Amino acid sequence: MSNSKIISKSITFITGNPHKVKEARGILNNLGITLEHADIGYPEIQGDLEDVARYGAQYAVRRLGKPVIVEDAGLFIKALKWFPGTYSSYVQETLSNQGILKLMSDVEDRYAEFRSVVGYCTPKTEPEVFLGIVKGRIGYKEKGKYGFAYDPLFIPEDYCESFGELQTDVKNRFSHRRKSLEKFALWYKDQK
Ligand code: IMP
Repeated sequence: MSNSKIISKSITFITGNPHKVKEARGILNNLGITLEHADIGYPEIQGDLEDVARYGAQYAVRRLGKPVIVEDAGLFIKALKWFPGTYSSYVQETLSNQGILKLMSDVEDRYAEFRSVVGYCTPKTEPEVFLGIVKGRIGYKEKGKYGFAYDPLFIPEDYCESFGELQTDVKNRFSHRRKSLEKFALWYKDQK
């Protein structure tokens, strides 16, 4: 995508996760969009990733009064009936990666995907959501020191390395977050 068309208006990314800010800035700056950051928090309602992103964006825009994006992500493992999915935060804090590896110890089908949904909202518009998916598999042990949370477990399709072994700029080329943010950026530029 061309990054020659620079959009001057900035957007505020609402998150408490500094890794996400680094990734999102790397992706959106390349696409000509400047990102501010605010860690004001928002309630994570019960529902799918789209519901959480839509609600979060609307909630944040009411508090800040300016255009915002939020992003909700999760790891979906096929053999575990797409668990942890929308419970990814809770599972990361409780079972952690070692717990997932235990659940997967006798499982041959290692297919998994990361999903990311970006929610965008302005004071004058309804929320819009953008989904990105990256396919891959769960490794047999944690590998790598880059990234965060589930990254050392997840080996993207066509790679031997886990996300934890790939530097941010490499992960950013094809990650779930790259895909959702790129969809958002294309749509956003079309609105101008
Ligand atoms: P969140 O609700 O979007 O913050 O994410 C749910 C859980 O998935 C949290 O534990 C995150 O740390 C984790 N997570 C989200 N995105 C990624 C990623 O890109 N790599 C690894 N873990 C992630």
